[in-house]
Amino acid sequence: MPYAEDLLAVIAAPTSAAKAALLADMRAPQETWVVPVPPGRPGRPAHYHEAEETRRRRRTLAHAPTRLRFLQSIHHIELSAVDLAVLACLRAPDMPAAFHTDFLGIARDEARHAGLLEELLATRGAAPGDAPIHHRLWATALACDDLGDHLVAVPRFLEARGLDVSAELLPRLVGLDPEAHTVLSVIYHDEIGHVGIGTRWHRAWCQAQGRDPESHFATVLARLFPGQVPGPTPLDHAGRLAAGFTASEVGLLEGFRGDRVAREEAPAAPAALVSGHQGQRPAADHHIQPPPTIGQPPAVSRQPSASPGV
Ligand SMILES: [Fe+2]
Ligand SMILES: [Fe+2]
Repeated sequence: MPYAEDLLAVIAAPTSAAKAALLADMRAPQETWVVPVPPGRPGRPAHYHEAEETRRRRRTLAHAPTRLRFLQSIHHIELSAVDLAVLACLRAPDMPAAFHTDFLGIARDEARHAGLLEELLATRGAAPGDAPIHHRLWATALACDDLGDHLVAVPRFLEARGLDVSAELLPRLVGLDPEAHTVLSVIYHDEIGHVGIGTRWHRAWCQAQGRDPESHFATVLARLFPGQVPGPTPLDHAGRLAAGFTASEVGLLEGFRGDRVAREEAPAAPAALVSGHQGQRPAADHHIQPPPTIGQPPAVSRQPSASPGV
């Protein structure tokens, strides 16, 4: 099956296990493709119930039922993160093989994260789908115009915000729920890697487009997340810096308000990165060098509602 169809099949698959099975043998593509319109919703089991709003009043995590709802919410964030990583691949017909290898790896990690949470929930007599879910993360990704938007919105905003939430939560959770702490610690450390991958490929994409990464980052945030920066949780400075955020980007996130629209530099002549969608992939992916290694369907909105992170 062509790579793009494989990607769409992963998005349509209902469970973490089904997504993981499809991802297991996927490799970077040999061909290019026309980016299809993504589905309005990713696949989910039939019994999942979608709700417009999640419960807003939260009791302390010392309250076991609250903690269970929290874990169910994180599970769906991880399941959604599989779809978002695969969507990044779908939007990248002209990106190098290394990009696809990286994001397919992220998708496998996210399926594993969802599986870890399913195991934890099972020990507590709970299962995914017991609680209502939402698709705000997917809606945010659909609001992106191109891969550059996606790299800012998903790994560099949603997943990075997940780092902030985890860094604030983990020290409190260690005494309350050691089993949950163990699982969420694994996820946190993997997510630093995901944000790092997103940061490096965002820079590579900007370079190929003749754009300044920090200006592009600020402009996309102002457009897609007005009023959501700074977020409600203190920034995880250590995690963000480990994931490649610059000190000035961290400063921007702390001082940024939605009414401060950064001025993006006019793009220079785009590299061949986004030229044409027909024929074979370039023999050598020299346009973008792989960077060094180091979270009832609402209408798709250009102003996605706040999300806790991926
Ligand atoms: Fe994850
Ligand atoms: Fe992630």
